[in-house]
Amino acid sequence: MKILFWLPQSDASGWLAALARALPDAELREWQPGDTAPADFAIVWHPPREMFAAPRGLRAVFNLGAGVDAILALERQHPGTLPQDALLVRLEDSGMGPQMAEYVQHAVLRYLRRFDDYARQQARREWHVLAPHPLETFTVGVLGLGVLGAQVARAVASLGVPVRGFSRSAKAIDAIETFSGDLRSPQFDAFLDDVKVLVNLLPATPDTHDILDADTFGKLARGAYVVNVARGAHLVEQDLLDALANGTLAGATLDVFRTEPLPPEHPFWLEPRITITPHSSALTLREEAVSQIADKIEALSRGETVSGIVHIKRGY
Ligand code: NAP
Ligand code: GLV
Repeated sequence: MKILFWLPQSDASGWLAALARALPDAELREWQPGDTAPADFAIVWHPPREMFAAPRGLRAVFNLGAGVDAILALERQHPGTLPQDALLVRLEDSGMGPQMAEYVQHAVLRYLRRFDDYARQQARREWHVLAPHPLETFTVGVLGLGVLGAQVARAVASLGVPVRGFSRSAKAIDAIETFSGDLRSPQFDAFLDDVKVLVNLLPATPDTHDILDADTFGKLARGAYVVNVARGAHLVEQDLLDALANGTLAGATLDVFRTEPLPPEHPFWLEPRITITPHSSALTLREEAVSQIADKIEALSRGETVSGIVHIKRGY
């Protein structure tokens, strides 16, 4: 079995060694420009279009992350780029769930316990006890209840605050009030109503782009907080800055941006109510990812089906 590998800006050797341990009979190679030789499987992150230029008999393309927006953007811009008969398979959790849960719990507690307000007081050497947010009305809304969103919703509920979740299809999750339907529908408005912290874990698709905008912010509790750990394309950046300026929002924790790395001149860097991390809320862990992909390659080779197959038209 032949496997092609592509992970930009990274030393592929550690990955190839881990794959060789997991799939000792496989012939592994890092893709190089001009390589059009046959391969059964490709394991990629942000692949260049040229990687798929020649028909090479691929049976499946494994995406080294949960979000497939970059690879599907290629297909949208240049229809027919992805091999028509190959499955596209995303990572399912593979160690990202616990990282995401910790990150979002931290952001929620930061706002609940008013750490940003205390940091501002500290800068002014002020000693005032601030009124705490009442737990029972501190509703956290999680947008997207998939592999990661469902885990995050449960982790936040364990803090003792009310948690709601929104997804396209109906879900039942213990201790979570669930809403479903289309974005910008009356169900979506009911989900947003009086939410104090909005956490975004939607995939980036044409339907979800720009969902974190002035209209959505205006439907939350006044002075709410936003946590975006999904994709930069979800956030209308100027609407966030305006909402902070006019008091619609109190702050935001952002892990993802329209342009990454965030350019040095970007106004977010200078906004004290925005906490920035460099797309690090949930990293792809090598051993976990290799083990999941190797198990799926073996299952496909035995003629079995696997989970995590992307619906190309749906976009996730
Ligand atoms: P997932 O399992 O595919 O879950 C996506 C969820 O979003 C599902 O509940 C889905 O609803 C819902 N959804 C999709 N489109 C919708 C729409 N138009 N309206 C309402 N709900 C919609 O994805 P995941 O594994 O949880 O990952 C989510 C995203 O997190 C990824 O796509 C990626 O962009 C991001 N991510 C970021 C990092 C980071 O480091 N910052 C790391 C990993 C992932 P249904 O359940 O009804 O289908
Ligand atoms: C990271 O952003 C991922 O989609 O896995």
